[in-house]
Amino acid sequence: MSVASTEMNGGHGQDVWSAGEVTVLGEAVHCAPSVHNTRPWLLAIHGRIAVLRECPAVLLAQHDPQGRDRRISCGAALTNLVLAIRSLGWTADVEIGVTGGLVTATVTGTRRAQPTETEDQRRRALSDRRSHRHAFGLPGLSESVRDAVQDALAAPGVTGRWISGGDEALAVARLLDYAARVFHDNAEYQRELTLWTTPCGSGLRRDTFGAEGLAAVGLTTSRTRLPDEALLADRIQREGVLVVGTHADETRDHVRAGQALEQAWLEATCRSVAASVMTQPLHLAEVRTGLAERLGLVAVPQVLMRFGYPTEPEVVGNP
Ligand SMILES: Cc1cc2nc3c(=O)[nH]c(=O)nc-3n(C[C@H](O)[C@H](O)[C@H](O)COP(=O)(O)O)c2cc1C
Repeated sequence: MSVASTEMNGGHGQDVWSAGEVTVLGEAVHCAPSVHNTRPWLLAIHGRIAVLRECPAVLLAQHDPQGRDRRISCGAALTNLVLAIRSLGWTADVEIGVTGGLVTATVTGTRRAQPTETEDQRRRALSDRRSHRHAFGLPGLSESVRDAVQDALAAPGVTGRWISGGDEALAVARLLDYAARVFHDNAEYQRELTLWTTPCGSGLRRDTFGAEGLAAVGLTTSRTRLPDEALLADRIQREGVLVVGTHADETRDHVRAGQALEQAWLEATCRSVAASVMTQPLHLAEVRTGLAERLGLVAVPQVLMRFGYPTEPEVVGNP
């Protein structure tokens, strides 16, 4: 956790979280997933109010020119913050405000209330959640696991839709293949991606990238081996691929998509199901609208999530 990003009001009365509790909140936020691992937020604590602000200084002009992923990332961090406040035994009342296009989420611990079992389990999963960008093994997810993950997406206006059947898988494979080729050949895009990539430590870690298959086309670099469409379609059918969408496409919708994404990811983690997410292909308008058209979605696709059981050990650690 960045100490500089966490303000304490220094009080020692009844109405403030202790230094230890502030650390718990900061650590929970720190381990949220974020676009290119940029953690584009600032956390401040005043009394029993936690304020999470979108940080506009994180600019990904090539990958995320509209700041959509930044807001989704803030939503994921907000989920972690709420779970941490609940784990401290407080209610967590959330208000999302938008000023000058930037999001501020204010979470107030108003009164004492024990966390539910689900909240407790998901909070315990915070530090185990990580991106798994390697192939998943067989068997795939059972219906009950799919239902639990999809149900966890509960956030206003957010929906989830599993890709199912050969026709849908092939249609999605074609779109992802197209997007992968566009990003693969875009020198400016690749320059920016390289700038954010680190061999180890706290950036976007190169050793966590997928070399081939579905996860690899979800974060295409100039080195990615582009699979053929049939192979990709086969992977999509074998892996559980969930399209997370929102009814509208405003700033708050992006935050809610992020909140939902993280709830689903944590639910999967609780069940020893690994996941990775991809927004890269959706930054091409023709892919975003093409996906909605091919799947007959009313919702605006915001994120693709893939779930499954790992076949090889994950790269550990997101310091
Ligand atoms: C809004 C958002 C967009 C993301 N987009 C992608 C993506 O397109 N491809 C990908 O492989 N990972 C993507 N990620 C995953 C991040 O790269 C990952 O969360 C981050 O590097 C931290 O690693 P961790 O998930 O293992 O903690 C995204 C995450 C978020 C929250």
